Amino acid sequence: MAVRITIANHKGGVAKSTTAMMLADGLALRGHRVLVFDLDPQGMVSRLLLGRSGVASAVRQEKTIGHLLEKLISGKPAQLARYQTPGSDLAELREPNALGRVDVVASDDRTLVVELARLEDALRALASGERLDVLLWRLLEPQLAKHDRNYDVVIFDTPAGTPPLALTALRLSTHVIAPTNLEENSFSTLMVFLRIVLADELGLAGTVRVHVLPTMFLASNPEQVRFLDYIRTSTPEVNAFPRPIPHTVAIHRAEAHPGPGAFRRSREKYDSAISDVQALAEAVEQRIIKR
Ligand SMILES: Nc1ncnc2c1ncn2[C@@H]1O[C@H](COP(=O)(O)OP(=O)(O)OP(=O)(O)O)[C@@H](O)[C@H]1O
Ligand SMILES: [Mg+2]
Repeated sequence: MAVRITIANHKGGVAKSTTAMMLADGLALRGHRVLVFDLDPQGMVSRLLLGRSGVASAVRQEKTIGHLLEKLISGKPAQLARYQTPGSDLAELREPNALGRVDVVASDDRTLVVELARLEDALRALASGERLDVLLWRLLEPQLAKHDRNYDVVIFDTPAGTPPLALTALRLSTHVIAPTNLEENSFSTLMVFLRIVLADELGLAGTVRVHVLPTMFLASNPEQVRFLDYIRTSTPEVNAFPRPIPHTVAIHRAEAHPGPGAFRRSREKYDSAISDVQALAEAVEQRIIKR
């Protein structure tokens, strides 16, 4: 059965989508079959993995997450496989003997926003009283269950602000990776997010395990060093990954997609950050996948 991991944090711009990209590539390089669901109308991880033209082609072919939800909401039959686009620009994953792969259910802004608004209308018409995130979970869970044997890992990239679709991802998952940067106000937002996720009201406390991932770490910044130390040693409840993702030009550059058909070796894409990609994938294997 595929392990399902949601990448989430209430706060924007803390490297959620960057983490999703690095983790998808890193796990696929280690032989895992990865399915990435882009649940953010911004479509960042879709662009990072497929490039702008890849996303445009998914939109043209009506195979984004918004199109999938459109079918499911209107009660029409839908097969998840129809909505997947082979992803990642890594040359290694295109080799005939490659064990791992990345597939993406892409997001584009318009369809997803329109479909979610339509779902809210449908709910009101039904007056079912059901929460939106629960209803979305009911629509997506059977689709994922059918696919469980085709993937080792399913990654959900979610928008900031924890809207219903992000809560749906949490309901679908058994693990949450919460990237956080190392600014003081980020920590208080993170703690609020953890309280929300683990609140009894959502009924998730017993089903998801949270792992905090410090990101954009600058070793030259003494405040960040102190803060990282505090997260590691004084807050066992956040279950932090021991190695932070550093803030580097290499990671920023890896996000420039070379375009369709232009596959890069992983060392070329990630340059000096390849060790961070490998370390992240290994840590997730040890903590989450092998359990
Ligand atoms: N380790 C890093 N080193 C350098 N730049 C980084 C790193 N991680 C992320 N960034 C940059 O920070 C910005 C925000 O990253 P990203 O889009 O992944 O955040 P996010 O949490 O997904 O944002 P949003 O809340 O909008 O979805 C991007 O421009 C990205 O290139
Ligand atoms: Mg994002």
